[in-house]
Amino acid sequence: MTSRIEKVHAREVFDSRGKPTVEVEVTCAGARPGRAIVPSGASTGRFEAVELRDRGEARLDGTGVRQAVKNVQTEIAAALVGCDADDQAEVDRRLIELDGTPQKSRLGANAILGTSLAVAYAAAEARGFAPVHRFREIWQSVVGPTEEIQDKERTSGLGRGMLLPLPMVNMISGGLHAGRQLEFQDFLILPVGAESYSQAFEWIVTVYRRLGQVLSKRGHEGVLVGDEGGYGPKLRTNEEAIEIVVEAIDAAGLHPGDDVSIGLDVASTHFFDAANNTYLLPSVSPKPLVAEQLIDLLERWIERYPIISLEDPLAEDDWTGWREITERLSGGVQLIGDDLFVTNQARLRQGIEQQVGNSVLIKLNQIGTLTETLETLKLAINSGYWPVVSARSGESEDTTIADLVVATGAGQLKVGSVARSERLAKYNQLLRLEESLGNDAGYLGGEIFAQ
Ligand code: PGA
Ligand code: ZN
Repeated sequence: MTSRIEKVHAREVFDSRGKPTVEVEVTCAGARPGRAIVPSGASTGRFEAVELRDRGEARLDGTGVRQAVKNVQTEIAAALVGCDADDQAEVDRRLIELDGTPQKSRLGANAILGTSLAVAYAAAEARGFAPVHRFREIWQSVVGPTEEIQDKERTSGLGRGMLLPLPMVNMISGGLHAGRQLEFQDFLILPVGAESYSQAFEWIVTVYRRLGQVLSKRGHEGVLVGDEGGYGPKLRTNEEAIEIVVEAIDAAGLHPGDDVSIGLDVASTHFFDAANNTYLLPSVSPKPLVAEQLIDLLERWIERYPIISLEDPLAEDDWTGWREITERLSGGVQLIGDDLFVTNQARLRQGIEQQVGNSVLIKLNQIGTLTETLETLKLAINSGYWPVVSARSGESEDTTIADLVVATGAGQLKVGSVARSERLAKYNQLLRLEESLGNDAGYLGGEIFAQ
């Protein structure tokens, strides 16, 4: 039985920063509509698929998405009505072909992704499936029989059965997400010692509360939060932020390192001076740093603090710096390419060939269709690169990534902090999935890093 697409509709809604974004509804014959809302980044990579906005228009300072919405209602609807929503690969292939540009700039990656996801939800509705089961089917059709997943040591156990993820959670925000108070963007924790997702989440909430108290005690306005719900205090240095997070882990009665480790999203592209190949970090040094000096600094911190994950430690164009950090640190630290790989198979393949990084951030809207996202995820797992499914700094009540990370068994999820409901929508969905899936979904947690 096929699920014939009867209607494709879109509207402009607003994200967690009050910025317009695209919501798409796709309806299959005889079923309720499937719906998805597209997220939006602030520290976007140059190689990402293009978000179409109504630039040049006075309305909402040119941030509207009416053209993208119109593209869904006209061209995209015309191309998809009558298609089979069960054939996600064919739907996505049509969307890519219809757009015809390398970065989805004609119809807009927001128009395309919204549709791609809404089709998956519509197919779930048509058959009365929970979304996680539909995503599971789509994942299985992308990877083929899961026995065919290559058994790379580092990613063994990922991509096969369903898994609740190890969450990687923002505690302190800097960079473009918190008025550049700090140069680094995210100071995160990974509850590696927890034995279940729900225990991991409780630990995170406890550390977050203790962190607020530690900040207040030190005279900071602990309650002010950044775009992803992490605290946004005015600290003197990036290192001070790490020290404070360690203090909060202690104050929660947990062991830094054994129970809860630290991750940093350096998001270095935004302080990289491409003309001179240097990094501008005034809180560390008045003189610009070359890649080697930035790596030295990160290495010192890894020795001093329980840091096990570094995202975008070098800029999106600094392949030489990336090669060097991989050579020096990939043995003991997860090195995640976000702006570097932009969920793009070709860029990830280049990274694998050049032995750059050992992990990839997976963001649906960086590439623009569900199928392409899953292909990049598959390439990562088959190449021994840890995938980390991730939200954007601009989010909504849409919970796709929670269902997706479980369905694919990707192992790790990065959503932002535990304040702000666009983040909690995902964390709460995971609690529901943990309960409803029971033994059908495993939990590896920090074991992921044991290999
Ligand atoms: P963005 O930030 O959504 O603003 O790009 C998230 C990240 O850098 O991981
Ligand atoms: Zn990032």
